[in-house]
Amino acid sequence: MQRQPLVIANWKMNGNRLLTSQLAAALREQAALLNDVDVVICPPAVLLPSWQQEVFYDAVHLGAQDANEHAAGAHTGEHSLQLVSEAGADYVLVGHSERRQLYGDSAVRIQAKVAAILTHAPQQLKVVLCVGEQEQERANGDTVKVIEGQLAEALANVSAAQLAHVVIAYEPVWAIGTGKTANPQQAQDVHAFIRNWLQQQYDAAAKTVPLLYGGSVKADSAPALFAETDIDGGLIGGASLEPEAFLAICRAAQARRS
Ligand code: PGA
Repeated sequence: MQRQPLVIANWKMNGNRLLTSQLAAALREQAALLNDVDVVICPPAVLLPSWQQEVFYDAVHLGAQDANEHAAGAHTGEHSLQLVSEAGADYVLVGHSERRQLYGDSAVRIQAKVAAILTHAPQQLKVVLCVGEQEQERANGDTVKVIEGQLAEALANVSAAQLAHVVIAYEPVWAIGTGKTANPQQAQDVHAFIRNWLQQQYDAAAKTVPLLYGGSVKADSAPALFAETDIDGGLIGGASLEPEAFLAICRAAQARRS
């Protein structure tokens, strides 16, 4: 089964309107080379309207880096699904390790966010669920146990039909922003585990779920990672702030189709 390659830019708390125009222009220029890859940009939420204007006619999707699980109310500083959706987001990242570690995204909240996103109407949003082990957990041989626990908690109430709106990003915490990429075999092993786990829980529905690798992916490391059977694309932090590098990574994902 051929899944469409997918590359998601996670700008984190970086970027501005100038970089929005620059990256949008670079994507437009290369559009013909990116016919078979889905590109999603997750800027800081306040930049979503600028991005929405820039890519209105283009085949670029937008995403939010996070959203609150409640519909509205007294949640100072938070954004609802309705708001990010109105601002153009089709995707929402959930459970990024920085949110798990620094901003109180517990397993319970992550499960609530996944549920809220998948039942959000009328717009259908997609969840990008991030999972990953810490360096010490890998050293202890617990990688698979940690990933399984994160998947089981986050997807506890997700049906096979809803799984069609889920993307999973494997991001080893020790590789995020550190320059230490997992090697293609390490990444493939975990991706194969995730694919098998999904298959056990969801049977045929598991085949369509894009599995992304994230953690210091650069233009030079992307081709070998994306050549692996179960790596359908990437979640890109630092390199998504450099239009040339990001475009090279998108082309490497596109190469999965040729
Ligand atoms: P990085 O970030 O590419 O800068 O390591 C990836 C991520 O955190 O999504």
